[in-house]
Amino acid sequence: MATLIKNGTLITASDTFQSDILIEGEIIVQIGKDLTHPSADVIDATGKLIMPGGIDPHVHLDLPMFDTVSSDDHYTGHKAAAFGGTTTAMDFVVLEHEGFKYSVDLWMEKAAKAAIDYSFHMNLTQFSDKIAKEIPSLMEMGIQTLKVFTAYNGRLRIDDGSIFKALRIAKENGMLMMAHCENGDVIETLVQQALADGHTDPEWHALTRPSWGAVEATLRMAAMAEQADSPVYIVHMNAGGEVDMLRYARERGVKVMGETCPQYLFFTEDALSREDGSKWICSPPMRTEMDNARLWQGLHDGTLQTIGTDHCPFFFDGTQPIVYEGKEIAIAGKELGKYNFTKIPNGLPGIQDRMPILWTYGVQTGHITPNQFVAYMSTNPAKIFGLYPRKGALVPGADADIVIWDPEKRVKHGIAQSHQRTDYNLYEGWELAGYPEKVFLRGKLIVDGDKWLGKSGDGQFLKRGIGEIL
Ligand code: URP
Ligand code: ZN
Ligand code: ZN
Repeated sequence: MATLIKNGTLITASDTFQSDILIEGEIIVQIGKDLTHPSADVIDATGKLIMPGGIDPHVHLDLPMFDTVSSDDHYTGHKAAAFGGTTTAMDFVVLEHEGFKYSVDLWMEKAAKAAIDYSFHMNLTQFSDKIAKEIPSLMEMGIQTLKVFTAYNGRLRIDDGSIFKALRIAKENGMLMMAHCENGDVIETLVQQALADGHTDPEWHALTRPSWGAVEATLRMAAMAEQADSPVYIVHMNAGGEVDMLRYARERGVKVMGETCPQYLFFTEDALSREDGSKWICSPPMRTEMDNARLWQGLHDGTLQTIGTDHCPFFFDGTQPIVYEGKEIAIAGKELGKYNFTKIPNGLPGIQDRMPILWTYGVQTGHITPNQFVAYMSTNPAKIFGLYPRKGALVPGADADIVIWDPEKRVKHGIAQSHQRTDYNLYEGWELAGYPEKVFLRGKLIVDGDKWLGKSGDGQFLKRGIGEIL
């Protein structure tokens, strides 16, 4: 089966040009002017923009947390992603005591319902000689990334010595370390003190996780990476000072890369003081307008490399069902922490919102160019995480993961457009100019306007190779 997309404007990470695209089966086979094919379905994309499918390098689907679970699974989260133009998502495997293989197998079972392509990062939340020896086996499973945490004491954090050892192992095996940077010790102390003083409201989530901890931990990770001669990728950068540290380290040749997320660009800690403030609870928290501005600057000048979502949705009120694909569903959510901010599940929705929101409020506002948009949303994650040029590229031989983007489409965004399985949208009522019109996953049309043509099981696990250091 062939599809010929004619007369569109292609946007890649480096160029913008008029061209046709010929897809045969799952692959792009030709890019050029005036292409013809005897039997292809022809799509006239005059006036439309054509981009490689988005790659979200940071999502949490079906993730158990605090007596509940993130409310999108690998089907609903992927479906939502596709409606927002994203065709590949990477989520994090919870490391069980039984080891890597067991943990990956469990995550594979969850992901059997995938609707877009996917791969995994491994949470390195335990460390021992045995685990150290087993790390290289992840490469054979197609997983070239480990995530460490400098926060969540007693739960997810491993100590700096173990992080340093793991960085050396990563280096020896061509793997990439990802790091959640906050100061776990400071957070634990401040949380205990806040609770002892009777502070239980959501705003205390931000007050007990100061941005200096994120700044200091970012520099600490960069310093450890340099000393291990290993690359590191800092996830969900949220504080302006983190961007300063990233720049400081990169200017000195340290192989450190940074990801931010839409929530850190558009919101501040003030959101937590709203009556529905728990909707904005995520870790790390949102900061100040100065931090928003510094993150934008870091995207504008290329200090940062990617925009992921950290999509980890929960219901605002999980006692009230919503209707998803015709069925009522309710999943316990933010209400679990009604009387104690430490019990509010951490995380928020965004997998569908990322590209449309960033197009209108990032590109249209002049913070980033259309080519940077493609770089941050697709090409850079593909390169860093060992998928390029199969993904993240509009070139012959690449997977035909393609978004036809209608720059004229006006949408009032919010829960009515959203396929994210939760009861709220952070961008409720935001006016959008430009939205995905058609989305192809390996040559198959999975989104056509507001029609869902994809299905559970369409998504393939992507074994990744050694990535690039950008
Ligand atoms: O609040 C968040 N981000 N939850 C997901 C876990 C993490 O640290 O990324
Ligand atoms: Zn994290
Ligand atoms: Zn995360």
